[in-house]
Amino acid sequence: MKKVGIIGGSGYTGGELIRLVLRHPALALDFVFSTTRPETPLCHTHVDLLGSTEMNFTDTINPEVDVVFLCVGHGKSVGFLEKNQFSEQTIIIDLSNDFRLKNDAQFQDYDFVYGLPEYQKTKIESAKAIANPGCFATAIQLALLPLAKENLIKDALHVNATTGSTGAGVGLSPTGHFSWRNNNVSWYKPFTHQHLGEIGETLEDPKIYFLPQRGNFTRGIFASCYTPFEGSLEQAENLYKDYYDSHLFTNVSAKEIALKQVVNTNNCVVHLHKYEDQLLITSAIDNLLKGASGQAIQNLNLIMGWEEDLGLQLKASVY
Ligand SMILES: NC(=O)c1ccc[n+]([C@@H]2O[C@H](COP(=O)([O-])OP(=O)(O)OC[C@H]3O[C@@H](n4cnc5c(N)ncnc54)[C@H](OP(=O)(O)O)[C@@H]3O)[C@@H](O)[C@H]2O)c1
Repeated sequence: MKKVGIIGGSGYTGGELIRLVLRHPALALDFVFSTTRPETPLCHTHVDLLGSTEMNFTDTINPEVDVVFLCVGHGKSVGFLEKNQFSEQTIIIDLSNDFRLKNDAQFQDYDFVYGLPEYQKTKIESAKAIANPGCFATAIQLALLPLAKENLIKDALHVNATTGSTGAGVGLSPTGHFSWRNNNVSWYKPFTHQHLGEIGETLEDPKIYFLPQRGNFTRGIFASCYTPFEGSLEQAENLYKDYYDSHLFTNVSAKEIALKQVVNTNNCVVHLHKYEDQLLITSAIDNLLKGASGQAIQNLNLIMGWEEDLGLQLKASVY
């Protein structure tokens, strides 16, 4: 069994990682670090864990763990690693955006590899440190990777993507409060969202007009992207099916898709539609799983040489 440490364990992605690690057949939870609630039971914060573990949060780390997941806010992973050193053998998987861009990937002795398996599985398999992609970035890149690989993004891309409230983390803000979020839709950071940087590096800088939206549901991202495409719908579908043939978590759907197909799973579904000269590509993921903690476990499975879906055979919450 490989020993796991989690930093930021009282947050949403940290909580999701605890759930996944406790059910993973090759992982043992060694410690869950918290700045605000050491010595309190995990199940007092993550109430669904009652009966699953009697472990407490801690404010000390075990530097000898086999893997550590950093589930802290942007800019805080750098600060944490500057103050806390892990052994040379410890694999680091970071969920923030601190190491995602090529200019940020070298840090201390680490060489962070961008952890999108559908983009660079082989590189991930030999990594010691992973920069896990952003949630919007995952949904959008999975919608566009097959086109980008064949250099078929010829013109501007338009992207609308709607996220659930867990995408903003556990802290309350005026736009995250139930009174505002429920029965409501709004946009934010139009055309300037921070995930455009990592998307641009993977897809080789197409022009993207990205409008992020807040939805009134808790989990998931539904992304709609369109751009001119000269070929037929059938050609586009064959291109996507060929690309995702060897990637078990991403599937191309002949039917139009819906968010509930993927909520509570590590899956992504993609659907294609052609109208006049425009190709519409829709994709859906669970932001806390394929968009964060599930993809982090998927990356670890690849590094360890385990089955890619070990501990990730989850079932959707359809109803
Ligand atoms: N939510 C998503 O859907 C999603 C998807 C992809 C990526 N991400 C990224 O993943 C990271 C975590 O997101 P999240 O949604 O889980 O955030 P979150 O719910 O706000 O949790 C972050 C946790 O980090 C801990 N923390 C805060 N300051 C810290 C510090 N200085 N040192 C160590 N720990 C500290 C806090 O836990 P304690 O009080 O217990 O210390 C806090 O609850 C973020 O960078 C986020 O952008 C999130």
